[in-house]
Amino acid sequence: MTPLFELREVEKTFEIRRKGKKLGLRALDGVRLTITQGASIALVGESGSGKSTLLRVLLGLTPPTEGVALYQGRPIAQVRAENREFARNVAMVYQDARGSLNPRMTVEALITEPLRHFGICTAAQAPARVRALLARVGLAPEVAGRFPSEMSGGQVRRVAIARALASEPTVLVADEAVSGLDVSSQAQLLNLLRRLQAEMGLTLIFITHDLGVASYLCAEIAIMYLGRIVETGPTRAVLDAPAHPYARALRKAAPEFFAPLAEPLTGEIPSPIDLPPGCRFSGRCAYAQADCRLTDPALLRLNDHRAAACLHPLTQSFANV
Ligand SMILES: Nc1ncnc2c1ncn2[C@@H]1O[C@H](COP(=O)(O)OP(=O)(O)O)[C@@H](O)[C@H]1O
Ligand code: SF4
Ligand SMILES: [Mg+2]
Repeated sequence: MTPLFELREVEKTFEIRRKGKKLGLRALDGVRLTITQGASIALVGESGSGKSTLLRVLLGLTPPTEGVALYQGRPIAQVRAENREFARNVAMVYQDARGSLNPRMTVEALITEPLRHFGICTAAQAPARVRALLARVGLAPEVAGRFPSEMSGGQVRRVAIARALASEPTVLVADEAVSGLDVSSQAQLLNLLRRLQAEMGLTLIFITHDLGVASYLCAEIAIMYLGRIVETGPTRAVLDAPAHPYARALRKAAPEFFAPLAEPLTGEIPSPIDLPPGCRFSGRCAYAQADCRLTDPALLRLNDHRAAACLHPLTQSFANV
């Protein structure tokens, strides 16, 4: 079956200026990723590792500088440009939910907008649809008349999710959709997303800083470091026995799940303008060997389910994990 999304050796270089000189900043470098229909995948990594850029590539908003980014076997940016169905099918919940909603529009108007834009229902049917969507995300019908400024952070996120669901998408892409919320709002939203995934068969692509959120919500995980996916596989298996030393450091830094990641490691994170030769993690890696300074490891299969970008993966036998 053709995967829903496939990224092959995706590179995204931004041109930036430093002290009057033009430099290339490699936000993504050798990214390999396959996402099948109905999958739930968490993208995890420190700030600056390229997670948001990767989402923008998946959404067709940022074309890769090199490599191939496909949606159902066709270049994503092309599919997006040609076909309104793509924007309908692939919905996004932004990191800053409040900032993504027009403050001068009521909740009713905010949710009606995509209903109208995508021709989901008639104008007469819209109010009932809005209320059904509000119910779906656990909000009372009275909320329809309110403005975002009159609502709590948790409620605004629910509105953003209701708005994303209005187009009846098959893929929901979320950037830190639950971070910064109090524990009970976070738990309610996670339960909601999990239920929606089970009920609607949504494909879920979820950026998070929190390994607890990743393991609760997502069957698969992709761990990023400096623009590359360095480990991927079933969330439980990866977190129980990480193969990449960076994944291991992240896991060790989060002994308690459901807490934002602490700074996992000592040592300078290299600049994406000036990556070190060999493995990009070698300067911070407790397991580095001489060859790690020479060869840049690509993400390679360890078994049918798991892959790591490391010359000396930590778990030697992957037969059954
Ligand atoms: N439009 C842009 N122009 C220049 N540099 C950018 C741009 N967007 C992102 N970057 C850089 O790319 C790298 C990855 O950024 P980003 O994808 O936002 O990471 P994350 O979401 O993991 O924090 C960072 O070094 C960031 O500064
Ligand atoms: S390739 Fe070497 S330096 Fe890089 S993560 Fe693996 S062991 Fe560490
Ligand atoms: Mg980001």
